[in-house]
Amino acid sequence: MIVEILRHKLGSTESFYQSFKYKPEDERETVATMLENLNLQKELKDIDGNKADKIVFRKSCLQKKCGSCAMLINGKPGLACASKLKDLGDHIRLEPLKKFPVVEDLVADRSIMQENLKLMKTYFEDGAIVSEKRNTLSYEASRCLQCGCCLEVCPNFMIDNGFTGMAGAMPLSRIINELPKQRLKQISKTYSSYVYEGCGKSLACVDICPAKIRIEELLANSNAIAVWKRYIKEK
Ligand code: SF4
Ligand code: SF4
Ligand code: FES
Repeated sequence: MIVEILRHKLGSTESFYQSFKYKPEDERETVATMLENLNLQKELKDIDGNKADKIVFRKSCLQKKCGSCAMLINGKPGLACASKLKDLGDHIRLEPLKKFPVVEDLVADRSIMQENLKLMKTYFEDGAIVSEKRNTLSYEASRCLQCGCCLEVCPNFMIDNGFTGMAGAMPLSRIINELPKQRLKQISKTYSSYVYEGCGKSLACVDICPAKIRIEELLANSNAIAVWKRYIKEK
C-alpha cells in the first residue's frame, strides 16, 4: 500500500506530502503499528528512494483509552491505534488534526482543550452527591478521551471563539449531575456560556466520537439541569 503523510518540521512554516510504500504483515495492523514499523526501519526511505526523517506522531496506550493518537485518516478524524489498515484501502493519507496548530508531522497542539477545562473549573470543590442514577450518567461522560475528534468536525468550534465543543462539555456533564446546589449555580452559568450558547445541535460530533459516548443523552441531561433548572430528583 501507499501511505501519504503530511510532513511538517518542528518550527517550520511549511508542510509537504511524502509517500511511503508499506506491506502489512498481519491483518490486525493499525495505522499506529504501521507508523511504528516504518520508524523501526534501519533507514526510512520514501517512495522515490530518498532518505526520510522518522515520522513524528503521538501515542501512549495503543488501546483506544488515551486519545493521544488522534489524527486525520483519509480525511476523517480518528484514532491511529483503532484504525485497521484492512479497512482503509491501498492508499492511505495521514494528516494532523487541522483545527489546531500543527507542532510537527502528525502532532497537533491540542492544549486549548486543557486550557478550557481549567477555565471552566471542571472539578469538585466541596463534595459530591452520589447515587446510582447520577453515577451512571457521570460514568458515561467520564469515558471522554479528550482526543479532539469531535472538535475537528464541529462547525461551531474554533480555537479562539470561547466555545469548548463536546471535549469541554463532557467533563462538565460528568460533574454537573453530582454537584451540590451551591456549586451548581456557578457551573450552570459556565455551562451556558461555554457550551450551550455556542452549540448549534448539529450533532456532527455524535457519529465521529471514537469512544461512542452517548453525547445526545448527556447533552440533554446537562441542558435540563444547567439551563432549564430541572434538577435530578432522587426517589
Ligand atoms: S452538536 Fe454540533 S455544534 Fe454542538 S458540539 Fe456537536 S458538532 Fe458542535
Ligand atoms: S467527546 Fe468523543 S470525540 Fe470528543 S473528545 Fe471526547 S472522546 Fe473525543
Ligand atoms: S494510543 Fe491511546 S488512544 Fe490511541
